[in-house]
Amino acid sequence: MIIRKAEIECVAALKSQYPTKGYPEVAFAGRSNVGKSSLINALVNRKALARTSSKPGKTRTINFYNINDALFLVDLPGYGYAQVSKEEKKKWGAMIEGYLNGRDELRLVILLVDIRHEPTQDDKLMLEWMRQTGKKVVVVATKSDKLSNNQLMKQVPLIKKSLKLTEEESFVLFSSETKRGKDELWEIIKNECGI
Ligand code: GTP
Ligand code: MG
Repeated sequence: MIIRKAEIECVAALKSQYPTKGYPEVAFAGRSNVGKSSLINALVNRKALARTSSKPGKTRTINFYNINDALFLVDLPGYGYAQVSKEEKKKWGAMIEGYLNGRDELRLVILLVDIRHEPTQDDKLMLEWMRQTGKKVVVVATKSDKLSNNQLMKQVPLIKKSLKLTEEESFVLFSSETKRGKDELWEIIKNECGI
């Protein structure tokens, strides 16, 4: 994918703040710190378009990135971060749910999991919920640079089994460090967004 333009379009907490240009949207969901913002940067060849941090809880709003005036990549706040207050968790949960539920422009949800860990209960609930909304989902196992090939071969089937992935549900091994999986993911995105 040739990136001619990659810039922040808008930062939203409320539905009324979402963009109205009607471009297809691809959203990135997953636990805090799993690497959602890093993945967006990797996809568009930018180091710091989306802000990242080694501390969980960096992205706290829904951030829409305009790519080539053709689609929006949508960075969501993470879930499952224990250090966040109950009230804040509720607020983020409602924000994520409010976006994912009934956003017509949303073509594809990319659910990120950490290749090193078994998916959490939250991950499983999220995937189950997305299956029920009927939106197309791709599971991306990221931070693959942190494991050896041998370890990867063990983890991949474990994660697929734990999430009960079917043949129709795509699974991509990714790394924001090595850019592994980038082309594969772009192919899926382009296909789903019709661009
Ligand atoms: P929140 O905004 O808090 O929900 O987190 P996030 O999911 O956006 O994670 P972020 O992209 O900020 O990355 C969290 C940390 O993981 C940062 O220190 C990144 O450098 C690191 N990281 C992300 N992806 C990878 C990867 O593929 N490989 C390695 N080694 N580190 C990664
Ligand atoms: Mg983030």
